[in-house]
Formats: sequence, C-alpha cells, structure tokens
Amino acid sequence: MNMKRISMAVCLFVAACGGEDNEPAAEPLAYEDMSFAERVVFMNDVVMPEMKEIFVAFDPKFETMACTTCHGNGAIDGTYAMPSPQIAPLPPSEEAFLEYIKDPEHMRWAQFMGEQVWPRMADLLQVEKYDPTTAPNGFSCSNCHTHTAE
Ligand code: HEC
Ligand code: HEC
Repeated sequence: MNMKRISMAVCLFVAACGGEDNEPAAEPLAYEDMSFAERVVFMNDVVMPEMKEIFVAFDPKFETMACTTCHGNGAIDGTYAMPSPQIAPLPPSEEAFLEYIKDPEHMRWAQFMGEQVWPRMADLLQVEKYDPTTAPNGFSCSNCHTHTAE
C-alpha cells in the first residue's frame, strides 16, 4: 500500500485537488536546487512566515509556531530531516485513514491540511503535489507525517 495515497483519500472531501492550475510561480532559485544553507535561509524568511499565517488562522495556538513544529527533533539536532516522527503519525492505509477521519476533530485537521497546508507547502517548495498517475513521486502528507504501523 502506497502511503502517499492518503493524499488522494483527502481529495474525496477537499476542494484543493481539482483541475485548477497549481503551477508554481517562476522564482530565481527553487528549493530543490538550494544548498542546505540556502534552505535554512529560505525556511526562515519564506516558509515560516507564510505557513505561520495559515496555521494561526486555523488555531491561534500557532502564534508560537517554530521550526520544531514541523521538524521536531530535527530542528534541534540540525538535520531537519523529514518526515518528522514528532508530528502525529497518520494511519498507514487509505482505508484506515477514512476510518480515522470519522472522528470530527481528525476530520477538521485533515481538511485544513488537505486544503491549505499540503498545497501551500508544495507551492513554496516549487514541487508537484502527489498524484498517482501524473506525479507519483510528488509532495504528499507523507513528506511531513510518518505513519503508524498496520
Ligand atoms: C510548515 C512546516 C515547516 C516549517 C515551519 C519549517 N520547515 Fe523546514 N522543511 C519543511 C519541509 C516540508 C521540508 C522539505 C522536506 C522534503 O524535502 O520533503 C523542509 C526542509 C528543510 C531543510 C532542508 C533539509 C534537507 O535535508 O535538505 C532545512 C535545512 C529546513 N527545512 C530548515 C528549517 C528551519 C531552519 C525552519 C525554521 C525557521 C523550518 N525549516 C521550518 C517544512 C517546514
Ligand atoms: C508541511 C508539513 C505538513 C504536511 C504536508 C501535512 N501536515 Fe498534517 N500536520 C503538520 C503539523 C506540523 C501538524 C501538527 C501541528 C501541531 O503541532 O499540533 C499536523 C497535524 C495534522 C493532524 C492532527 C493530528 C493530531 O492528532 O493532532 C492531522 C489529522 C493531519 N496533520 C493530517 C494531514 C493530512 C491528511 C495531510 C495531507 C493531506 C497532512 N496532514 C499534510 C504538518 C504537515
């Protein structure tokens, strides 16, 4: 089971997966071409402010959002490795995920993630969003979240 397919399960209930043009704007240097040091600067100057804005709009507790919010211990040991085991792990299959979001609180979060966090982050990184046919290696929930065991 490809865990990235959870991103597709989200498409059953969010509007962000339609045919609209998500082509990232042309920018001088794309994340993928940056050195590690350039990525640190980009995260600090671009990703943090942009993502904090949407997280705070969802829940004011994110006023204290920091690198650790996404990177967990990776922001402390300096690796910034993703996905982060400190972000709540998601269920391991599409079926389990559909079960998981029957909890309205999980649904509320999954909707925020699917409509805002996932597409915004992919745009900022200038990478394609995961799609099983057109972008099987694309950016998905699983670039940030680990998954629980089956
Ligand atoms: C909203 C979530 C989020 C926040 C907040 C965030 N990052 Fe990131 N960061 C990511 C994602 C996603 C990646 C790319 C992972 C991938 O390539 O799949 C990344 C990648 C990185 C990388 C590159 C890692 C590598 O292996 O090359 C560095 C360095 C980094 N972040 C530093 C930071 C710093 C410093 C901060 C705080 C100023 C920060 N990040 C805040 C989500 C975040
Ligand atoms: C850029 C990184 C990133 C991406 C991409 C992402 N998430 Fe998240 N997600 C987070 C962070 C960070 C939190 C935890 C916020 C906190 O500290 O409470 C979170 C929290 C959640 C939660 C709440 C979990 C809990 O028990 O508190 C759910 C559910 C969730 N995400 C689902 C998803 C789904 C589904 C996708 C894909 C559509 C997704 N996320 C994509 C970073 C991400």
